Amino acid sequence: MDELVIRGGGPLEGKVRISGAKNAVLPILSATLLADSASLIRNVPHLNDVTTMMALLGRMGVQLTVSDKMEIEIDPTMINDYMAAYELVRTMRASILVLGPLLARYGRAEVSLPGGCAIGSRPVNIHIDGLRAMGAEIVIEGGYIRARCGRLRGTRLVMDTVTVTGTENLLMAATLAKGETILENAAREPEVVDLANYLSAMGAQIEGAGTDTIRVQGVDRLKGCPYSVVPDRIETGTFLVGAAMTGGRILVQDTCPHTLDAVLLKLQEAGCHINTGEDWIELITNGNRPKAVNVRTAPYPAFPTDMQAQFTVLNAVAEGAGAITETVFENRFMHVNELQRMGADMRIEGNTVFIKGVEKLTGAPVMATDLRASASLILAALAAEGETVVRRIYHIDRGYERIEEKFHQLGADIRRTTD
Ligand code: UD1
Repeated sequence: MDELVIRGGGPLEGKVRISGAKNAVLPILSATLLADSASLIRNVPHLNDVTTMMALLGRMGVQLTVSDKMEIEIDPTMINDYMAAYELVRTMRASILVLGPLLARYGRAEVSLPGGCAIGSRPVNIHIDGLRAMGAEIVIEGGYIRARCGRLRGTRLVMDTVTVTGTENLLMAATLAKGETILENAAREPEVVDLANYLSAMGAQIEGAGTDTIRVQGVDRLKGCPYSVVPDRIETGTFLVGAAMTGGRILVQDTCPHTLDAVLLKLQEAGCHINTGEDWIELITNGNRPKAVNVRTAPYPAFPTDMQAQFTVLNAVAEGAGAITETVFENRFMHVNELQRMGADMRIEGNTVFIKGVEKLTGAPVMATDLRASASLILAALAAEGETVVRRIYHIDRGYERIEEKFHQLGADIRRTTD
């Protein structure tokens, strides 16, 4: 199994280019199922989750052609199977995103229930209840969601929790439903907006994406089209925190600064200077140690839960004390134990972790537990004295493209080894 070996201590300095967003490309790849013809998806990040989604579509009979620039042509017209099997869904919860498109376009779907995961129970009741309200008949049998419908019917759906993939599933389903669907309490994440932009480019009638009320007028058919995926704001934020923690200076290119407002505010509060242009962000520390910050995660546009672990690590080496409160997921502090092993001074109380910054972390063997927790361990290692070996990095390969190469370009001493 692969490991990352990191010798920390130096500042991150230089330029880094950001890849397409994992959380945008996965719903977009699912949405290609809705069309009557092929789409060409560009700026696709080379990630294990993308490979899993391609395998899922491939098994259904969808034709996929990948170019060496990671542009994927996807032709759904030869589809002959409507199933997402357990062995793929269990490696990637976002597989649930094929449910809405399959039902809306083909009137049938069989999708394994994702089950538990490291960061909490993560149910999908809102996806299922919404599709039922649109006319689908759904039973849960043998661990599978088995669904059938005629043409879905537009309706008003009030989601009682803000859910990103739930909003995306119902939005995709609504594009081909009969009449108007109104999604209330919709997620406002930039990835929902990116999906809506792709659906609109295919001919969908959508208003209000990026607000908490999305209105969709169902159309009879959608046509495949070319589309380029938005940059990854979480990858962007991860590199910025890396520079902030190590007293570095970096220029992050091919990104989308306005999707990171809450994160940039916290980095400024931590004492970093931030400059932004249309598609770049520069972070300057002047070699100063960051100041601890308080953070509370919540749905967009508030501070993203996917940046929580990285800011927990920032506080671990910061001047002063900070509290990080997680309100989106239960059990998302799995990284805390590992960080304590590297000398971090932190304690968990309920859904808050209280952190007192220390002058130096020390390298240690650590184990990645989920995607963003793994990123936080790499950041900790970059700021630590001595050598850290991060194990179980398959988590990181799900969501970060060539992470060790990108950190290496920024001057980090990091290499991948195979056990
Ligand atoms: C997505 C992102 C993930 C991010 C999360 C929150 C993708 C592929 N993944 O995950 O990276 O951390 O948003 O920003 O985009 N919930 C219910 N019932 C449901 C659905 C969700 O109660 O039917 C709850 C969840 O348990 C959680 C909250 O809603 O407490 C938010 O989860 P949700 O937004 O659905 O997360 P994902 O879409 O799975």
